[in-house]
Amino acid sequence: MLLHTVSLLVFFLVCSSSSSVTASVSYDDKAFIINGQRRILFSGSIHYPRSTPEMWPDLIQKAKDGGLDVIQTYVFWNGHEPSPGQYYFDGRYDLVGFIKLVQQAGLYVHLRIGPYVCAEWSFGGFPVWLKFVPDIAFRTDNEPFKAAMQKFTEKIVNMMKSERLFESQGGPIIMSQIENEYGPIIWEIGDPGRAYSKWAAEMAVGLGTGVPWIMCKQDQDVPDKIIDTCNGFYCENFKPNKSYNPKMWTEAWSGWYTKFGGPIPHRPVEDLAFSVARFIQNNGSFVNYYMYHGGTNFGRTAAGRFIATSYDFDAPIDEYGLPREPKWGHLRDLHKAIKLCEPALVSSYPTVTWPGKNLEVHVFKSTSACAAFLANYDTKSSATMTFQNMRYDLPPWSVSILPDCKNSVFNTARISSQSSQMKMEPLSTGAFSWQSYNEETVSADDSDTLSMDGLWEQVNVTRDASDYLWYLTDVNIQPDEGFLQTARYPVLIVMSAGHALHVFINGKLSGTVYGGLDNPKLTFSDNVKLRAGINKISLLSIAVGLPNVGLHFETWNAGVLGPVTLKDLNEGTRDLTQQKWSYKVGLKGEALSLHTISGSSSVEWGQGSLLAQKQPLTWYKTLFNAPEGNDPLALDMNSMGKGEIWINGKGIGRHWPGYIAEGNCGGCSYAGTFKETQCLSNCGEASQRWYHVPRSWLKPSGNLLVVFEEWGGDPTGISLVRRRTESICADIFEGQPTTENWHKLASGKVEKLQAKAHLGCPPGQKISNIKFASYGLPQGKCGSYWEGSCHAHKSYDALERNCIGQQSCSVSVAPEVFGGDPCPNSTKKLSVEALCS
Ligand SMILES: *[C@@H]1O[C@H](CO)[C@@H](O)[C@H](O)[C@H]1NC(C)=O
Ligand SMILES: *[C@@H]1O[C@H](CO)[C@@H](O)[C@H](O)[C@H]1NC(C)=O
Ligand SMILES: *[C@@H]1O[C@H](CO)[C@@H](O)[C@H](O)[C@H]1NC(C)=O
Ligand SMILES: *[C@@H]1O[C@H](CO)[C@@H](O)[C@H](O)[C@H]1NC(C)=O
Repeated sequence: MLLHTVSLLVFFLVCSSSSSVTASVSYDDKAFIINGQRRILFSGSIHYPRSTPEMWPDLIQKAKDGGLDVIQTYVFWNGHEPSPGQYYFDGRYDLVGFIKLVQQAGLYVHLRIGPYVCAEWSFGGFPVWLKFVPDIAFRTDNEPFKAAMQKFTEKIVNMMKSERLFESQGGPIIMSQIENEYGPIIWEIGDPGRAYSKWAAEMAVGLGTGVPWIMCKQDQDVPDKIIDTCNGFYCENFKPNKSYNPKMWTEAWSGWYTKFGGPIPHRPVEDLAFSVARFIQNNGSFVNYYMYHGGTNFGRTAAGRFIATSYDFDAPIDEYGLPREPKWGHLRDLHKAIKLCEPALVSSYPTVTWPGKNLEVHVFKSTSACAAFLANYDTKSSATMTFQNMRYDLPPWSVSILPDCKNSVFNTARISSQSSQMKMEPLSTGAFSWQSYNEETVSADDSDTLSMDGLWEQVNVTRDASDYLWYLTDVNIQPDEGFLQTARYPVLIVMSAGHALHVFINGKLSGTVYGGLDNPKLTFSDNVKLRAGINKISLLSIAVGLPNVGLHFETWNAGVLGPVTLKDLNEGTRDLTQQKWSYKVGLKGEALSLHTISGSSSVEWGQGSLLAQKQPLTWYKTLFNAPEGNDPLALDMNSMGKGEIWINGKGIGRHWPGYIAEGNCGGCSYAGTFKETQCLSNCGEASQRWYHVPRSWLKPSGNLLVVFEEWGGDPTGISLVRRRTESICADIFEGQPTTENWHKLASGKVEKLQAKAHLGCPPGQKISNIKFASYGLPQGKCGSYWEGSCHAHKSYDALERNCIGQQSCSVSVAPEVFGGDPCPNSTKKLSVEALCS
């Protein structure tokens, strides 16, 4: 009987605790409160369809090792519901599987359901069929839209509930998001926007997930029970609209996206760390890096207006899943330093003082804890600050973190972790043996075309089944046309809403045009070789993805909308706009599924002397074996122009190395307010040369690689490369703050922390050579160091002795290690570059 009572009691406790966890996530003005504790949370965006399920565990582990508490992802509606009511949650779209992996790693999830996600993702995540629902208008007070949005949101919430994934059910999801960056739309459309956002919030809250909902960039009309949050490069001055909401940063931009035709943007980690420290010192308690791993826009998932296939985003984990150093390591050290301050941060508001020009101090002091942030906002000069009778050196544009209000363990501009130089290394087995197949030009007479009067909008016709749409018409030229005598050919003018266009006259390519980065519209205007009689005009229009952002982007057009005119005829100008046009959606090769094994065997391919080269509209295929090892792989496509790539039937993405990056790739300083145009690379080269090939898409042998090339390229220039670490560097000042051995310092076991240089090659590689070492006043940066006016002659000895042949090593940055002090009155540093092999 006693036993029975005990088991009943246990049962009762289990039940009551599972009902009390309903309230396990709450918040106040200071922070999110999880299981009764206010938390400073670091989060990172990893979008599940931008990598492969095989990559997920490692990405999540690297995020955890980088000091994150939370993984944030959008939910990609168009991937999950490709046609109405037909759902897909497998492979890269296995949302539940992804969330469960995060849970297994012991991290939380922030689920941004949207379902509008922007994200440089085709159509901002909306399925293309949604555009064709009668009377629909996206993201406003429109019944058909709201009904569809509610249905999908409920679908996702119910799925999470049935898998018990909300924190209120014992799962990892601690918060969700409804809509996305809606504030700017309210500014533009006013009342319908207000009504819609109120509706969206009430709809979401009504779903009873037991965890809070946020709306980001909702700068006005924040509905009750919704936390408004900030997105941007900096958010320290953001104030939540409600005094009882915590200050949260849902998108701390780690970099920026690349467009075909644009350079590659970078954001220095010193500035990113600086912005995060400033956010935290100003009452911030949640920071999400957008992106922590950007990944790849596989297949045709990249948004319109030339978003590149790579979505690397200069994130702490690179597109290939490797840590980007020093970004990953420096942020890890930042998180460690801030976590040491957590007790003070969550229990007090900061006291702010200004001890000098551009200097600022934030002190968080509670009964049992004290943490201080010392800031120097000057963009040029270092500063020495006296704080509580101690002196602190602050580099320009930096914050030092003192978890005990005494010892500085981290400065945002002093990087203690190593940096890496990566290389794309050609593989000996990387050469391919190609076969080619010519995509024929289509003409208006072809049987499977659809004919209509006038010019039709592209997506209206294709429903995004393909990037490609043929616009076909005939032009009759009388034998008495003047130009037939003079050979001064008439000018064809084609106006298109975008994004790229190939013009064929009687089956021959006459020209190619494509839109600019700021305006996708384009005009073809050139002499065309017409002959007497019927001429076949075939325009191949290409939509490079659907738009993802902008007021009512669902109404934006693509394709040849005209006018289309022919100038310099006897009659003057002939307008072809209203005449009969025929349409064909997609390529013949797409209809034949040439990207698959079975499809590709349905046609005759040319090889050897019959291999097509530098010819437009050509399909190429080859079989290859997977290279040994685990290094990430990529295709070097630099010899090609524009098109699409598949491996074993899976879409690698659009390639467009022919679109050369324009921009100013001048110097880049971390100091000063950052803009996405500030630190660029690749000007004058292909915006994207390498295309990620996921290892898990390969089998040991007989992999089918298919490339469709529009412009004409040289397939023999394509090669498979692996991404490896070329060299690693450390750049450490003596006396530089470090979180290492903090507990010894805190417990009084040591007086002062000694700065150390740590070097580590990736698993399976060892340090083979010290390319550069100088203790003194070395100059330059990783990859290009040189000795300065002061150099310890035993600099190399110390490193060679400790590091050669090791996978990792560390060396103290102190004079005795290098045979004495080469310049006693200067602040010295150690710069090292080591090779891994
Ligand atoms: C919150 O938003 C409303 C407008 O919706 C505005 O009037 C108010 O000033 C805002 N409050 C704060 C604290 O920003
Ligand atoms: C922190 O929050 C408190 C309470 O809202 C406020 O009084 C104070 O000004 C804030 N401090 C900073 C630096 O934002
Ligand atoms: C889109 O297609 C519909 C018929 O399906 C047609 O009525 C409409 O004119 C088309 N719009 C454009 C811009 O081509
Ligand atoms: C270092 O500075 C001190 C005092 O400023 C000076 O006496 C000494 O000569 C200097 N030493 C060297 C090596 O420059």
